[in-house]
Amino acid sequence: MLIREEKPEDIAGIRGVISAAFGRPAEADIVDALRQRAQPFVSLVAEHEGEVVGHILFTPVTLAGGGDLKMAALAPMAVAPKYQVRGVGAALVLTGFEHLRLLGMSAVVVIGHPSYYPRFGFSQADAFGLKSEYNVPDDVFMACELDPGALAGVIGTVSYHPVFRETQQH
Ligand SMILES: CC(C)(COP(=O)(O)OP(=O)(O)OC[C@H]1O[C@@H](n2cnc3c(N)ncnc32)[C@H](O)[C@@H]1OP(=O)(O)O)[C@@H](O)C(=O)NCCC(=O)NCCS
Repeated sequence: MLIREEKPEDIAGIRGVISAAFGRPAEADIVDALRQRAQPFVSLVAEHEGEVVGHILFTPVTLAGGGDLKMAALAPMAVAPKYQVRGVGAALVLTGFEHLRLLGMSAVVVIGHPSYYPRFGFSQADAFGLKSEYNVPDDVFMACELDPGALAGVIGTVSYHPVFRETQQH
């Protein structure tokens, strides 16, 4: 299993994995729109025997009053159904963190399953003083400091890239 940055020739495979994992194409459409508009755009694939079997995307978020803090959102991530529960998702998340650190990102947020993301260091974002722009339960909006202490004293509402609002997804 190889985790690497996406290449143009991966785009169809990425769409296939996301659509299969979510059972619909909406998230793949969001990824395509973000590829055009979000910067920086950290898009990694898991490749197995020449095929894309997993994908993860990180795009920048803004935090009113967050000063120079550089923060990203993890969304979406997907692993092809027959490759799930083998550690592919974990490898994508952890490699993604390395790429974000190289870009000077200090923290990551995610809206997701509270039973999955804490294993990577995520915990409830409201404990850091962060609120979601979306009306989601407190336990699904999580944050992870890439630089320990990066979120100390930070308070505010995290806004995802406008593409997410326009498509009513997160
Ligand atoms: C979520 C997802 C990316 C995880 O990928 P993966 O390669 O199966 O994950 P890993 O192998 O690293 O981790 C497996 C663990 O995650 C758990 N897990 C997988 N999907 C989960 C889910 N939807 N909710 C809670 N836990 C989940 C498994 O139970 C397993 O737990 P364990 O290690 O305690 O046994 C994959 O299941 C997927 O594509 N799901 C559909 C799309 C989706 O929901 N994406 C996330 C929201 S953006």
